[in-house]
Amino acid sequence: MAYNYITAEEAAEIINNGDTIGLSGFTAPGTPKFVTEALAKKAEREHAEGRPFKVNMFTGASTSDHVDGVLARANAYNMRAPYQNVPDLRKRINSHDCHYFDRHLSEMAQEMRYGTYGDVDVAIIEAADINEKGEIVLGCGVGNVPTYAMMAKKIIIELNDKLPKSLLGMHDIYMPLDPPYRREIPIYAANDRVGSPVLKVDPAKVVGIVRTSSYDCVKPFSAPDEVSKQIGANVVRFLVSEYKAGRLPKEFLPLQSGVGNVANAVLYDLGESKELPPFMMYTEVIQDAVLALMQKGKCTFASTCSMTFTDATEEILFADINFFHDKILMRPAEISNNPEVIRRIGVIAMNTALEADLFGSVNSTHVLGTKMMNGIGGSGDFTRNAYLSIFSCPSVSKGGLISNIVPMVAHPDHSEHSVDILVTDQGIADLRHKDPVERANAIIDNCAHPMYRELLRDYLRLGTQGQTPHTLRAAFAFHNAFSDTGDMRNADYAKYM
Ligand code: COA
Repeated sequence: MAYNYITAEEAAEIINNGDTIGLSGFTAPGTPKFVTEALAKKAEREHAEGRPFKVNMFTGASTSDHVDGVLARANAYNMRAPYQNVPDLRKRINSHDCHYFDRHLSEMAQEMRYGTYGDVDVAIIEAADINEKGEIVLGCGVGNVPTYAMMAKKIIIELNDKLPKSLLGMHDIYMPLDPPYRREIPIYAANDRVGSPVLKVDPAKVVGIVRTSSYDCVKPFSAPDEVSKQIGANVVRFLVSEYKAGRLPKEFLPLQSGVGNVANAVLYDLGESKELPPFMMYTEVIQDAVLALMQKGKCTFASTCSMTFTDATEEILFADINFFHDKILMRPAEISNNPEVIRRIGVIAMNTALEADLFGSVNSTHVLGTKMMNGIGGSGDFTRNAYLSIFSCPSVSKGGLISNIVPMVAHPDHSEHSVDILVTDQGIADLRHKDPVERANAIIDNCAHPMYRELLRDYLRLGTQGQTPHTLRAAFAFHNAFSDTGDMRNADYAKYM
């Protein structure tokens, strides 16, 4: 079948006000970059001429400024799901200009298929290659594209010549049947392949191909600061002690690691550890550190949804793709983050918290309880189902004005029933086999910053009732003190009693 080659501007003209769009990719990699820019310009023109123009945008996870940045600035989103991390979009969400549904990433595709979000008008897919049968070699991230492509009435392809065709074989495209016909997903080890190396679409739905040329533009990491290094060292210390105590099998278990500087620092530290054996990953993103661990032989395999590499690391990958080809498999988010598989293969989950409370509940999403930061992402998929679930965060933020250990989290994303281990720069609190008061003492002694320990102990002393001795009137004294005075150290429980 002969495809129609068009410009990004022509592709944007295919998209109408009110359309629902599904994008390929997960984080910046694999996500289209050019049609969305042209779409933002179209929205601005429409608005300037007094016409409404907003779309509903569904992705794999976060995207990049080429998608969420430009479209948020153009005020072109009616609805957005399931995860984002771009400051301009965050502003739109918190000012109610954009309806944002923060969903567990493993659930997004199936909810779409169940019909929760209506039809998909257009899927925009970044590709390394496409043949006349509609077989697509995807780029460096998959996300929910199998579902979006299957449901879409029209498909636009961004054919990116920076992506080598030899990416063929690094994807594992599998879509489970929906209930009541779903069977087990036959992944019994992180490196089991269950699907197709290509995404198959109906070629008749491909309304245009836009030729592009761009790396994925992932922001380089800043060098880890002292706090990140300390957190990384503490996580590794904990894993080594568990391994030596025989609570982890001698083959070790697959690791999941969140995104960001702390996650990257943890992985570098794992690479340095002589006491831990080589390991596999079953995760939703791999960052630069993982490629280095593969070169060293420390990470033997990674199942992921995306290779979230900086451009320099992407070049290393592409230059030596034969070496990495059988060590990385990119899968759709509903498989990379699948609760059934995570529980079966015993993933060790390592995620980051904004704040944690004395009894072990974690807030990953809402700054001071109200402002959306990014979203829950895959943290819920992994935390609830992991063999071992670790959360880390710095003990304080904003130079100590904020304690990240608080009496009660102002927005609960992960409850104490799922959080096993809490790690800060101060140390490690093992919350397993501890009752609520024991957990609180472990967290104060090991994770809270010394400047907040006495204030947290005072809170515990207020509560005399019940197994979890919260004092509800004073539970948000830290957050109220920050709102009123800009410093949580001014928390005054007596004021609320
Ligand atoms: N209260 C208010 N602000 C806080 C805070 C708190 N308790 N904790 C951190 N902050 C601020 C920091 O000061 C920083 O502000 P700045 O940008 O003005 O400097 C900002 O929030 C980010 O903090 P940082 O410590 O750099 O966070 P991070 O980059 O490590 O990200 C999460 C932490 C929780 C936002 C991030 O991990 C996330 O979005 N998690 C949910 C998704 C997820 O876990 N996915 C898992 C698999 S990838």
